Order: sequence, then C-alpha cells, then structure tokens
Amino acid sequence: MEFIIAESAEDMSRRAADRIASFVEADPSCVLGLATGTTPIGLYADLVADCKAGKISFADVTTFNLDEYRGLAPEHDQSYRYFMKKHLFDHIDIDQERTHVPEGFNPDADAVCAAYEQAIEAAGGIDLQLLGLGPNGHIGFNEPEETFPKATHCVDLTESTIQANSRLFDSIDDVPRQAYTMGIGTIMAARSVLVVVEGAHKAEIVKKAFFGPVTPEVPASILQFHPDAVVIVDPAAGELCRDMA
Ligand code: GLP
Repeated sequence: MEFIIAESAEDMSRRAADRIASFVEADPSCVLGLATGTTPIGLYADLVADCKAGKISFADVTTFNLDEYRGLAPEHDQSYRYFMKKHLFDHIDIDQERTHVPEGFNPDADAVCAAYEQAIEAAGGIDLQLLGLGPNGHIGFNEPEETFPKATHCVDLTESTIQANSRLFDSIDDVPRQAYTMGIGTIMAARSVLVVVEGAHKAEIVKKAFFGPVTPEVPASILQFHPDAVVIVDPAAGELCRDMA
C-alpha cells in the first residue's frame, strides 16, 4: 500500500485524477470502479476539464459504481446515479450505456446484486477501483461488521452513516435505511485501488484504517492487504500519519 499525504485537497484531487487518467491512457477500454461522496467531486471536475481539453477520452471506458441507496429512483437528486451524471457522466464523452450503478429502484435485492456481480465479471473485472472512506471506516457501504462481506449485497446502514449522510437530504427521515453495495471481495478483486480522503474529521479513521489492525470492524483496513493500493489524503486527513507515510 502506498500512502501519500498531498499538499492540499486540490493536490489530492489532481493526483487522483492523474492516476485515473493514466489507466485510461494505458488502456482506453479499461473498466473503472467509481465512488460517490463529497471527496471525489474535485477529482471528477479535473477529469471533466481534461476531457473537455481533449487530453483524455472515456469513449471506450466501462464504469461500475460502488453502491446505491435502495429505494431511490435514478432521477432522485440524492441517488448515486444522479450524482454521477451531475459530476461526471453528463460532461464527458462516455457511452452512458457502459456506466453501471446498482439498480436502487429495484426492490429485488438478490436479483440486483447477482446481476451486478455478473456484469462486472462479464466486463472482465475492474481495473481500477476508486474509493472514499466513511467516517466509521466503511468503503462503499460495507459497514463495520464481524466479517468481511464478499459479494455485492444489500446492507442496513448504521445510524452513524445515516447521520453522516443526512447532511445531503432535506431531513434525516428522508435518508434511505438500506443500500446495495459491492462487497469487500468485489473491491479486493479490483486489480488496483485508489482511495481518496479529506478533512480533519477523517484523521482518526485514516490512521486506524491504514496503519491499525486489519479487522472487519474497520472495513477499509483490508486494503492494507491489497497488492496495488494507493491512498491519497489531504493534509488534514493525514495529520496523524505524518510519521508513518
Ligand atoms: C458514502 C458512500 C461512500 C463514501 C462515503 C464518504 O457513505 N457510500 O462510498 O466514501 O460516503 O463520503 P464523503 O466523501 O462525503 O465523506
């Protein structure tokens, strides 16, 4: 695992965007795993700018998002499909047919999750998976548990995640209680992973996740065992790890 403390949040985004761009340059038909949350917004803006400037093309890229709220239609402004269109898909030359987000509007959890795993396999697996880090150490929506969930599955969100994500909804009652998410096995099967984390409120969990014991109680800690993981944090999120980086 490579751990990088960037010079600023902008530098974190730029470095992460450059890493994604390097995968697309090396293989224009690569498969990218994408993430939502506020942290990747800056790097998506960088990729949009690069694409508009003609430096990069997503025309042959396939994408799979990590997760989606169960019960939200793609048009809902808090759905992750909506987020991805707003911040990336609608501004780049990607074929939207090649963009995949779990079907949050489909209540048949078993069917949604099995189909998602099959689609990833049919695409040849994920070349580079982008990840954010939840305040409790979750990746995707893999919440702290007693075991590492393997495949795409339906999860009950923890109170702390509902609380953390309520800032984006009109009221906490509007936050869905469940989500579909790639499993830890799905994420670990990606050939490379790239994690971005920003903010002082993540400093403690960054230290635990990337320098503490590997445990399903801190789901992101498993990334320490990934053969090609790069973690890029802003100075605030990396504050407690200066001696370790
Ligand atoms: C959500 C997403 C995660 C994301 C996390 C952190 O819960 N499911 O994939 O990493 O939020 O988001 P933020 O970057 O807004 O802190």
